[in-house]
Amino acid sequence: MQLSEKLSSREAKVGVIGLGYVGLPLTVEMADAGFHVTGIDADARKVEEINAGRSYIPDVPTEVLAKHVAAGRLTATTDASALAEVDAISICVPTPLSKTKDPDVSYILDAVASIKKHLHPGQLIVLESTTYPGTTDELIRAELETGALKVGREFFLAFSPERIDPGNRTHGTRNTPKVVGGITARCTDLAVTLYSQFIDRVVAVSSARTAEMVKLLENTFRSVNIALVNELASMCDVLGVDAYEVIDAAATKPFGFLPFYPGPGLGGHCIPIDPHYLAWKLKAHDFTARFIGLAAEVNQQMPRLVVEKVTAGLNHQGRSVKGSRVLALGVAYKKDVSDMRESPALSVIKLLEDRGARVSYHDPYVPELVLESGSMAGVPLTEENLRLADCVVVLTDHSDFDIPWVTSCSRLVVDTRNATRGLEGRFGERILKLGAPDPFAHTVLLAESA
Ligand SMILES: NC(=O)c1ccc[n+]([C@@H]2O[C@H](COP(=O)([O-])OP(=O)(O)OC[C@H]3O[C@@H](n4cnc5c(N)ncnc54)[C@H](O)[C@@H]3O)[C@@H](O)[C@H]2O)c1
Repeated sequence: MQLSEKLSSREAKVGVIGLGYVGLPLTVEMADAGFHVTGIDADARKVEEINAGRSYIPDVPTEVLAKHVAAGRLTATTDASALAEVDAISICVPTPLSKTKDPDVSYILDAVASIKKHLHPGQLIVLESTTYPGTTDELIRAELETGALKVGREFFLAFSPERIDPGNRTHGTRNTPKVVGGITARCTDLAVTLYSQFIDRVVAVSSARTAEMVKLLENTFRSVNIALVNELASMCDVLGVDAYEVIDAAATKPFGFLPFYPGPGLGGHCIPIDPHYLAWKLKAHDFTARFIGLAAEVNQQMPRLVVEKVTAGLNHQGRSVKGSRVLALGVAYKKDVSDMRESPALSVIKLLEDRGARVSYHDPYVPELVLESGSMAGVPLTEENLRLADCVVVLTDHSDFDIPWVTSCSRLVVDTRNATRGLEGRFGERILKLGAPDPFAHTVLLAESA
């Protein structure tokens, strides 16, 4: 049977390399469509969990995973020789930055080395990991296209960026359109056939390089727009205007405006990292990606601005940061997830500790934090802990936080997420908001001019 027929009849055996935030939801979606899926991960604990029918990714319900494992449609292994048996492979391994902020494609290269050992005619390989334009064509193709096997003829190669948004309850793998670009037209067609089996809308583009660039545009767009509103927050602070009120009013314009909101800084595996992949690639062409650099600069300053707010609030109460108790509320990089990767909370906590603050934290999704200074266990969110703190700094606005109650029990709340909107009138000078003038600023000015 031809590969295209095997894919469209869902009789093809498929493999997914890397079973993390991206790979596990994809694996389950493929199994849902009726494919037999083998997940391959270097982490033996993840493999063990999957084979026991237990999910470790919040967006993948354990009962759904367990059903496919019990039916024999989904198995996991650390043994890459399973790739010899599969017709199509999706690569979902990490693409971090090195210490010098250069792309670290070593995980992709490891996965490709495993594929190469078992590559056989009639196999489709799709890279999903975010990377710089040219990776699929220059790096992977060059690795695999040796000997008698040629791309577009004996085996097929494409790039399809993953767009998963962890914690998003409206858009999951199935109903988020997927972009696909192959090395040849036949590669694109086969990848479209595979993904069309379990994704509602597949968008073909002219090349793998275009598909790689699509992903980097999406994430650079976010990074730049977040930087713009983060700078707006500083402008509004100076001008005595509430940035959130400005953004919400601007968002009533039915065309030509898209609201983004300020925050304590960028987090997660994508937005703080991916634009650097693009900037790095362009450097080799003597091209400086100025927007990317400027956005990174502005966004990286945000934890410092948060600490300035904490300092201003404590100062107003006649306290110094040194020796004050600060409770960080929410430390995951965004609401309703447990992901700590690149979380700005880590920088805020470090900056506060460097200034001598005694920092504790509460996050229902993160029982323990690993900091440069050692590990820290979370504290329960109790009235006593709130009253003990000289300042509560809201870094992540998880949905189940009762912010009016938190504010009522706290002496000072520094809010970096507009979680206290509507409470200002009730609690007055107790709330300091990033992107809004300090409530006591006018009293200080009046006192100065008197
Ligand atoms: N997390 C997101 O929200 C998101 C969204 C869109 C795109 N992406 C991109 O998707 C890719 C994967 O991200 P993630 O968040 O799923 O990462 P992750 O760290 O959650 O998962 C990656 C998995 O790959 C495994 N792995 C690494 N090397 C391996 C190898 N050689 N063989 C087998 N397994 C291997 C790791 O053990 C890990 O379980 C990255 O390029 C990322 O930028 C992530």
